[in-house]
Amino acid sequence: MQTAEGINAPSAPPQTYPFAIRRVGDAGGGEISGLDLSQPIGPEIRDAIYQALLEHHILIFPGQSMTREQQGRFAENYGELESHVGRLRTTGERYPIINDITNLDADGKPAVEAANRGPYFWHSDKSYHATPSKMTMLLGIQVPSHGGETQFANTKLAYDALPAEMKSRIDGLRAVHSWESNRIVVGESPATEEQIRERPPVTHPLVCTHPDTGDKALLIGTHVDYIEGMAREDSEDLMKKLMDHAEQPRFRYDHFWKVGDFVMWDNRCLMHRGNIEFAIDAEARVLQRTVIIGTAPV
Ligand SMILES: [Fe+2]
Repeated sequence: MQTAEGINAPSAPPQTYPFAIRRVGDAGGGEISGLDLSQPIGPEIRDAIYQALLEHHILIFPGQSMTREQQGRFAENYGELESHVGRLRTTGERYPIINDITNLDADGKPAVEAANRGPYFWHSDKSYHATPSKMTMLLGIQVPSHGGETQFANTKLAYDALPAEMKSRIDGLRAVHSWESNRIVVGESPATEEQIRERPPVTHPLVCTHPDTGDKALLIGTHVDYIEGMAREDSEDLMKKLMDHAEQPRFRYDHFWKVGDFVMWDNRCLMHRGNIEFAIDAEARVLQRTVIIGTAPV
């Protein structure tokens, strides 16, 4: 397996790549054309894609067609695949490692109630793990005609734009991220005892340093239960301020899906959510997902 470990990102990313790339948003987003990701890629393309990810944070490859196996093989260029934490509602079994975000029920019909509500709230993938997700990759299999976009908020730009007094207030703070408390916040069924044992809360710095670029970014989202050492009321007030700040349009890129769009992003400087405002009871939204394990935030 090839991996991207050991790549040293230059402080100024290269402006030229061995493929066509078009900037699609001020806060992030680079659209790459001319590559077929269903086929093996060599080290040069692998590393160039990673450099482009560091520069643009979100990469979009339109017109892709990949089996689960092909998507898994592409994803493994960038590290170890991560398991899904949830269990299938139909059988109670764990999701396969390459799984779908879907609003379809067991009969393949669009469901009014999303099986998992968490993806529709701002989050950074697996921030409730000691080692959150490095990168997430989705392939558009079935997409709604309107809405259902994946929205991104650039938490590096959001941190950079904070007033100096807020930066000095939050530097050094640590947040408790909890899978269990998030389930309650987003309206999912409470976690079982076994699930709580499997996913205990973890703490991370509120401001993290990107391991490849050295950039600082906020690590926030609805998985934050509270700030360590702070009264709950003060903690909730601070988190609301930071979330409201980071969600501003100037830090956003919203991706409206087309079938065949392959989108990969860097969780270490972004939070994201799916927009649940689509015809959820009439149209399918199925995105084939692979996730790469990251490192402990510092
Ligand atoms: Fe997510």
